[in-house]
Amino acid sequence: MKKLIALVFSVFAATAQASGGSNLQHSGADLSDADSLKHGAALFVNYCMSCHSLKYVRYSRMAADLGLTEDEVMGSLNFTGAKFGEAMTVAMTAADGEKWLGKAPPDLSLVARVRGGPDWIYTYLKSFYRDPARPLGWNNVLFPGASMPHVLWEQQGVQSAVFDAPHGGPAGAAPVFARFEQVQPGQLSAEEYDKVARDIANFLQYAAEPAALQRQRFGVWVLLFLVALTGLSWVLKREYWRDVH
Ligand code: HEC
Repeated sequence: MKKLIALVFSVFAATAQASGGSNLQHSGADLSDADSLKHGAALFVNYCMSCHSLKYVRYSRMAADLGLTEDEVMGSLNFTGAKFGEAMTVAMTAADGEKWLGKAPPDLSLVARVRGGPDWIYTYLKSFYRDPARPLGWNNVLFPGASMPHVLWEQQGVQSAVFDAPHGGPAGAAPVFARFEQVQPGQLSAEEYDKVARDIANFLQYAAEPAALQRQRFGVWVLLFLVALTGLSWVLKREYWRDVH
């Protein structure tokens, strides 16, 4: 029994670690918010798909799930020349990615699941800061040393990160992140940028499990069906027993 409890705890601890623990900000991503998903899809194809693919998502499937027509998707959400029935892949090869960025941009189909939910992506997109020591001049507090540049810097503006010396830790311990300071304003206000980050996180949450959206829709019908069935059974029971009494 003790072993079982220890196991359960270690699984919880591992999950908390994988999702970044308590450093994550609450994104408020909501799969039932159709406008947020559409906005997230548009942002993704415009700002992320030059590097990242979604190899498990087909354009046609995304259209059906998000309530978009084929024309809408092919006209404004497909810049790669792929066919409607094809997956959302990119032309950049892993070798090119490595050459230009130091690391190949990973496929993001499952990233929301691997990172434990949309809050990680939301926090990641808000945690880029200027760091002249990095090859591309950007670093990230949530993912230190990430080779991704801050592709949304024009929207968010440029921030620098302030670190405190660690208190009472072992000598040579890493400095502790204290806060961001805005060094250059962006085109968007902080609230507007939060919405951008939330909608992208929401869309990637959808991409990681397209069936979740269907489950949610079916769920309502299943409940309605059960309510109707209960009503019907009750009427039937009453009819049946009327003759017996
Ligand atoms: C210029 C190319 C480029 C663009 C554009 C880009 N990324 Fe990245 N991204 C990368 C690279 C390279 C990595 C790998 C970082 C590493 O592991 O050091 C990465 C990593 C990530 C990760 C972490 C994956 C993981 O779990 O390790 C996420 C999430 C991500 N990108 C999201 C986005 C989103 C959202 C956008 C659009 C707003 C975007 N990226 C645009 C290059 C790019």
